[in-house]
Amino acid sequence: MSTDRPTRLGEPLPAELLDDAERLSREELRALQLTRLRDTLRHAYDNVELYRRKFDAAGVTPADCRTLEDIARFPFTTKADLRETYPFGMFAVPMDQVRRLHASSGTTGRPVVVGYTEGDLTRWADVMARSIRAAGGRPGHKVHISYGYGLFTGGLGAHYGAERAGCTVIPASGGMTARQVQLIQDFEPEIIMVTPSYLLTLLDEFERQGVDPRSTSLRVGIFGAEPWTEEMRREIEERMDIHAVDIYGLSEVIGPGVAQECVETKDGLHVWEDHFYPEVVDPLTDEVMPDGEGGELVLTSLTKEALPVIRYRSRDLTRLLPGTARPAFRRIEKITGRCDDMIILRGVNLFPSQIEEIVLRTPGVAPHFQLRLTRRGRLDHLTVHVEARSAGVGPEQRDLAARLIAQGVKDGIGVTVEVVVVDPETLERSVGKIRRVRDLRDLRDQ
Ligand code: DLL
Repeated sequence: MSTDRPTRLGEPLPAELLDDAERLSREELRALQLTRLRDTLRHAYDNVELYRRKFDAAGVTPADCRTLEDIARFPFTTKADLRETYPFGMFAVPMDQVRRLHASSGTTGRPVVVGYTEGDLTRWADVMARSIRAAGGRPGHKVHISYGYGLFTGGLGAHYGAERAGCTVIPASGGMTARQVQLIQDFEPEIIMVTPSYLLTLLDEFERQGVDPRSTSLRVGIFGAEPWTEEMRREIEERMDIHAVDIYGLSEVIGPGVAQECVETKDGLHVWEDHFYPEVVDPLTDEVMPDGEGGELVLTSLTKEALPVIRYRSRDLTRLLPGTARPAFRRIEKITGRCDDMIILRGVNLFPSQIEEIVLRTPGVAPHFQLRLTRRGRLDHLTVHVEARSAGVGPEQRDLAARLIAQGVKDGIGVTVEVVVVDPETLERSVGKIRRVRDLRDLRDQ
């Protein structure tokens, strides 16, 4: 077993570690996609009543798909479809072929339940293993997994992928932060897989315990499950002396491992297009956008058996770009936010990630912030609560930081917000996915 250093920036993955699919030309990949797409459409139509109903209503049958572009003729699938058929109504195989269930946390209404056959679990581990290799993971590396284990797909998805990649797994899950810091020092993992917001919680704990986070064995962090910015990448890389790369996925489509950033380029995430067919649509008109144009990511599974998804509306905003480190696979740009996360403040659209960018380039404050939406009279009001970097940051510096952030928001986004710099360690910490926005508008009205 080798424990070679992860691929350095600009250094390609050794050819023997590429999957067969990663060696395909774009034309070969597209041919494979078409075959798999046609099979998936047929499988969904024949075995899921909801798809049959929707295809019939749209006047299309699986046979109408002759080219990849024909996918645009098929209806979209939404979270509401999965909720309506809760729990198993969209499964395309008998229950005795379903080996595992996961569920997405859904803050409102029923959760969304997803299922996997034996074959689905194998392919999921394969794409996760490919993602870990693209991030710089090698057989023999130890992988500390702080994504939550359980119904959330993060923990177990990463777990089986890391095992498949020939790594040694440390299944830490989320929480018990002090102990995690101890385990990282004692077990000396090379890789950590965690949400970026929980990594910040871990970082603070390192510092609280008097351990220099730059001194650990960690070399790569694989961060996802929530939006994070280039500014956050710089903050993490600087404070931990590691490579920070992005991983994307969603339960409805499989879990983590739909797309992965390569450590040698760090230029967006390659979509594993042999298993997932991406489109970007205008979220308002539903029109398919040409590559390069921004909009909502729509995904179709190409190899899933238990829960095939056709044109699933992710609500995630990005654009499709040509492949770089894996030339046959298109990339998605780092996801800036979800359609659902967009705050419309007095007519101006604003995403929490835009505030993150501004907070992270402001001296004197920590990367911990929260957005509180309230109503003052008839107007919506946004307050950014952000922590001072340390107790030593005095009132004048706090005042200056607050003014810089408010000015940054005004200049960059074009709207007035209030900024309050609070004491260190007073805002709620993340142990998994962070909730940036507190919408208190209705509370005020009652
Ligand atoms: O979060 C799967 C996952 C686990 C991905 C671990 C990466 C790492 P869900 O709980 O169903 O699944 O949430 C999916 O999370 O639609 C995005 O809005 C968001 N998301 C996931 N990865 C990223 C990312 C998992 N890299 C939802 N950047 C998605 C931005 C992300 N948002």
